[in-house]
Amino acid sequence: MLKAESIHKTFRPTRSLSQELWSFFAKKNSQDGVKAIRGLDLDVRPGEILGLVGESGSGKSTLGRLLSGLYQPDQGRVTFEGQNLATMNKADKFHFFQKVQFMFQDPSSALNPRLTAQAALAEGLIIHHLGGKSQRREKTYQLLEEVGLGAAMANRYPHQFSGGQRQRLGLARALCLDPEILVADEPTSSLDVSIQAQIINLLLDLKEKRGLTMVFISHDLPLVALLADRVAVMYGGLLMEVFPRQLLGQMRHHPYVQALWSSTLAKGDYLLVGEPPDPQNPPVGCPFQPRCPEAEDICSLPPPMKSDLPEHFWSCHIR
Ligand SMILES: Nc1ncnc2c1ncn2[C@@H]1O[C@H](COP(=O)(O)OP(=O)(O)OP(=O)(O)O)[C@@H](O)[C@H]1O
Ligand SMILES: [Mg+2]
Repeated sequence: MLKAESIHKTFRPTRSLSQELWSFFAKKNSQDGVKAIRGLDLDVRPGEILGLVGESGSGKSTLGRLLSGLYQPDQGRVTFEGQNLATMNKADKFHFFQKVQFMFQDPSSALNPRLTAQAALAEGLIIHHLGGKSQRREKTYQLLEEVGLGAAMANRYPHQFSGGQRQRLGLARALCLDPEILVADEPTSSLDVSIQAQIINLLLDLKEKRGLTMVFISHDLPLVALLADRVAVMYGGLLMEVFPRQLLGQMRHHPYVQALWSSTLAKGDYLLVGEPPDPQNPPVGCPFQPRCPEAEDICSLPPPMKSDLPEHFWSCHIR
């Protein structure tokens, strides 16, 4: 359905001429930048919830944005229904942006403070030339009901909503074009635990009712393991492991995934120590090697992707 093939994304700083000259004379590579995604393959399958997990800075949001067409990869390609986003014609791109929606971590940044809830929802419909005025009104009321806000809130501005309500409005906004795929970037991380649970339940409900496919991004492995059908774990801009959620803790994991899981269980036998890699200078070979208790010399070479079950892949020399 939606697929990333060998994608790379580096953020290069914009520099002044004097900074460029300085790097030239200091023999520093002016092409240095933050290597956020460093060669990654992943597919999103119809009807699934794909959980994307990793520590801060591992590249989750960047990958989510690449999959949603908000960023373009420097190398590799993202395809939707078999078509490369980079070479799609205008009409297909329009269709893509209708069918794949990105939901932001912080709803305030996605909502225009000067638009009422109803106007914010109608905006997407107007851009995509969907329905007349009364149909749009109808649709926005229906969306507000669907996300549990109710039509009575239609004339409120974003600042008149609580955090949880704003996230519901952000969700309604992402749903107004009836997308097939929703990429939700840490949709609950800014909320209280009890409100988090409400939003998660709402997402699960909507998935059932609408048959939505979802990419759920989070740094919280237990939460993702509860929610997702498949879990993809990222580290240093690479994919470490992909597995079906029911197998978590019941099979041979990548050492990083095992460390994440043990840290969550606080079992103490395999805890995560040290810091994630510097994205400007990631280690050669396996990015987890400097923190890995099992690392050997061979780990400074790029690790192979291994598999034992059709749905289980991991990238490690040792395991
Ligand atoms: N627009 C940008 N410009 C420059 N660097 C960026 C940009 N976006 C992300 N980065 C860098 O790319 C790397 C990956 O960032 P990303 O936001 O994808 O990580 P993340 O896994 O989503 O982290 P978090 O859990 O903190 O949200 C980080 O080092 C980050 O600083
Ligand atoms: Mg992020």
